[in-house]
Amino acid sequence: MNLIDLRSDTVTKPSAEMREAMANAVVGDDVYEEDPTVLELEAYAAKLTGKEAALFVTSGTQGNQVAVLTHMRQGEEIIMDDRAHVFLYEGGATAALAGVQSRTLPSDNGKMKIEEIAGAIRMSDVHFPDTGLIWLENTHNKSGGRVLPIDYLAQVKSLADEHRIPVHMDGARLFNAAVASDVEISRITEHTTSVQFCLSKGLGAPVGSILAGDKEFISRARKWRKRLGGGLRQAGVLAAPALLALKNGLDFLKIDHLHANMLAEAVAKLDRVKVENEVETNMVLVNTSETGKTSEDWVAEMKRQGVLAVPYGPLTVRLTTHRDLTESDMKQAIAGITNAWKQLKG
Ligand SMILES: Cc1ncc(COP(=O)(O)O)c(C=O)c1O
Repeated sequence: MNLIDLRSDTVTKPSAEMREAMANAVVGDDVYEEDPTVLELEAYAAKLTGKEAALFVTSGTQGNQVAVLTHMRQGEEIIMDDRAHVFLYEGGATAALAGVQSRTLPSDNGKMKIEEIAGAIRMSDVHFPDTGLIWLENTHNKSGGRVLPIDYLAQVKSLADEHRIPVHMDGARLFNAAVASDVEISRITEHTTSVQFCLSKGLGAPVGSILAGDKEFISRARKWRKRLGGGLRQAGVLAAPALLALKNGLDFLKIDHLHANMLAEAVAKLDRVKVENEVETNMVLVNTSETGKTSEDWVAEMKRQGVLAVPYGPLTVRLTTHRDLTESDMKQAIAGITNAWKQLKG
């Protein structure tokens, strides 16, 4: 059976055009900053985000961790929401690598209350850690790909500026946010000091992320990337498909969002299962509690019915759309989910 893979937007395979670009990429030694394709990708990404400079890194996690290491010193504190990817899913790397601690705040789909952020900023006192960074995630993965509104970003940045604290955005799915809000990327990133975005998620490149910021920040980040073993050599073979993904990947995201809506509408018609999130981008969170079955039960049955998904909590299943899915795949996915529902609805 042909399985429809809705586990993540990281499962896409490079297109024929991307493979051709990889084969023909002009390359050099990127540690010497001599790989023309990497340099082109970084310049393109810097322009797109409205930042002075950008750095090609191996993954979203590496980009985030390089940002923490570059912005912060040991013993400082980051203010972040308590369901941030960096807090839940990066193996405690901020503590393990940078020696910083996380001050987590509750959030409404990634939006921490401005007054709570203000209250969490440390006063100067010999007992206290210094607040070294404010962290935002856009789109917010754990709440089902929700978008942070621009006016909210502006409020956070103005508070951070008042206290001279940098703002980092984990924009693993920044492009989904921009497409959903119909704004230029730079309208979002202007409210950040640094931003990381993934090339290998919705955009569909096989490998890599970008970290962008001012020149001085990126030059120090380059050293941290090297320390972490992320100084790749002829990395142009990876930058070439990434450039293609950046230049024309945005059109695919609109389709991904439509597909997610198709899934959500189909799930909404089934009783005893509920769509938990407002579907703004490419994720649908399905709550299984009224069926008396766990997300693990659902994921196993869906697999038997030809659909792959991930448990996203004991009673939540996450479905994620991506650029390798066609409309006919979506119909097959809906049929598979409906069959699973017939088995599990209770
Ligand atoms: C919001 C967010 N940030 C960071 C990452 C890490 O990216 P990577 O898997 O490339 O390390 C992910 C991955 O799913 C993510 O969803």
